[in-house]
Amino acid sequence: MGEFRLETARLALRAWREADRAPFAAMNADPAVMEFFPGLMSTAESDALVDRFQAELDESGRCPWAVEELSTDAFIGFVGLHAVSAYLPFAPATEVGWRLARPYWGRGYASEAAAAAVQFGFGPLDLDKVVSFTSVLNLRSRRVMERLGMSYDQADDFDHPNIAKGNPLRPHVLYSLSRDDQSP
Ligand SMILES: CC(C)(COP(=O)(O)OP(=O)(O)OC[C@H]1O[C@@H](n2cnc3c(N)ncnc32)[C@H](O)[C@@H]1OP(=O)(O)O)[C@@H](O)C(=O)NCCC(=O)NCCS
Repeated sequence: MGEFRLETARLALRAWREADRAPFAAMNADPAVMEFFPGLMSTAESDALVDRFQAELDESGRCPWAVEELSTDAFIGFVGLHAVSAYLPFAPATEVGWRLARPYWGRGYASEAAAAAVQFGFGPLDLDKVVSFTSVLNLRSRRVMERLGMSYDQADDFDHPNIAKGNPLRPHVLYSLSRDDQSP
């Protein structure tokens, strides 16, 4: 079986490569990229995340994929599908998530890649539903969820169990999209 690769008009969602590790570590140490996470990541933590994502791809045929800009071949971040951690209140579920390096924001790349990831979920993976969640305060990420046509219900708001009480990043929103909601 060949290496995973899914193309959109401007991007490729693909398996992880050794060369992705350095630019991924740099973006995971960028305070702008990590504004809505409890902390920056060390290079070791970033590398461990690459290993986890690639293992998830090998085991399940999907993961938060490495994203490449087709016009430059540059690694720009990740977008993809991931099994929701069992300790979250809406588990089990499959989430769509994204994290792009700062120079690549504001171009529609996250939404373009995420739409392809969701269609891969509903198509080849035969998922009925995809969720996404983020800090209440992460409006940029919420706008991606809205552009994907995901729906939001305030009744699903939850406190992230891994973020300390009193931390403003603790309150989270949950969005979801069902295959049946898709236009034919
Ligand atoms: C969340 C994140 C991926 C959003 O990136 P983004 O570039 O704003 O999202 P999109 O790809 O949907 O791009 C939309 C923006 O591009 C603009 N845009 C420019 N050209 C466009 C095009 N051809 N098509 C669509 N949008 C385009 C849109 O106007 C919009 O800008 P606006 O929100 O200022 O109006 C990015 O901010 C990020 O990586 N943040 C850090 C990590 C993070 O918080 N991840 C989420 C954790 S849950």
